[in-house]
Amino acid sequence: MKKTIFSGIQPSGVVHIGNYFGAIKQWVEMQNEADFSVFCIVDLHAITVPQDPTELKENIYKMAALYLAAGIDPQKSALFVQSSRPEHTELSWLLNCNTTMGELNRMTQFKEKSESKKDSVSAGLFNYPVLMAADILLYGATHVPVGEDQKQHVELTRDVAERFNAKYGQCFTIPEPIIKNTSARIMGLDNPLKKMSKSAASSNNYIAISDSADEISSKIKKAVTDSGQGITKDKDKPAISNLINIYAEATGMSVEDIEKKYSGKGYGDFKKELADVLIAYLEPIQNEYNRILQDKTALTQILTDGSSKIAGIAQATVSSVKEAIGLGL
Ligand code: TYM
Repeated sequence: MKKTIFSGIQPSGVVHIGNYFGAIKQWVEMQNEADFSVFCIVDLHAITVPQDPTELKENIYKMAALYLAAGIDPQKSALFVQSSRPEHTELSWLLNCNTTMGELNRMTQFKEKSESKKDSVSAGLFNYPVLMAADILLYGATHVPVGEDQKQHVELTRDVAERFNAKYGQCFTIPEPIIKNTSARIMGLDNPLKKMSKSAASSNNYIAISDSADEISSKIKKAVTDSGQGITKDKDKPAISNLINIYAEATGMSVEDIEKKYSGKGYGDFKKELADVLIAYLEPIQNEYNRILQDKTALTQILTDGSSKIAGIAQATVSSVKEAIGLGL
């Protein structure tokens, strides 16, 4: 079967190593074995919460620069901005009418994000998973590389697609979430029981891709550790397990090899070397990012070309879905 990859990230300011290891790094690895890859800057998802227009536009360019700096190759993959293709919102409506309130009410991310302010969050935030389903289904994606927090949304996509196919005939390919062991859920440095998040109360929760060497050293130094000692991955040691996962992602070493390397060493030694490893890992990406971001004309061209490359596929999917539902003349 043809392997088609789709994934995306919101252009909402901070991109942290959770996003990077959980998503972007996997995309770069997967784009070489896929028949076709589509990577999207999901600006329509970003506006489900308030955004400053000037910052949003800038963040779209920043995200595109980061995709490229990370190694997404616009010759091999299509890189585009979600709002540049009207088919995303069009299919989203068609799917909304085939998704139940009950299904959306069960989405844990919505529950978390709307906690204690249910009446004032946007209807877009509630419908967000349906727009995500539209993103994936438009291009017939077979594989969707994401972090674990998006798994439930990909499962909803599968349910909606299967139900639609059963009701209207074979319109959609059923996608599979691809979630990697060591990067499924990078946890907060200040609280290893909750995922690393850009909306955390303190910036000590995350390492941003743009953090300086000093910031990285200081944040790793401050990262909470577990009681006891020993550099081992264990469910009773969530803080060290998280730091080991980050080390594994930044070096490509296996967890076992990391445990062996640091056998008999203390948390302090391990943290110091983890900071060095992360700084060395991020530096070339940061340099490339800063270089690419300077040429907005070139970035605009890449994003426009990406959008043109996939226009035909998106249009064909929407036409066939409308036809199946009985819309139009
Ligand atoms: P977003 O922008 O919140 O996050 C982008 C990607 O980063 C992953 N991620 C993490 N992975 C590991 N540890 C963490 N702490 C961590 N935090 C975030 C997310 O799982 C995600 O893969 N709705 C999506 C974007 C989207 C999308 C799509 C993804 C829109 N349409 C279609 C896949 C397919 C989102 O808001 O991700």
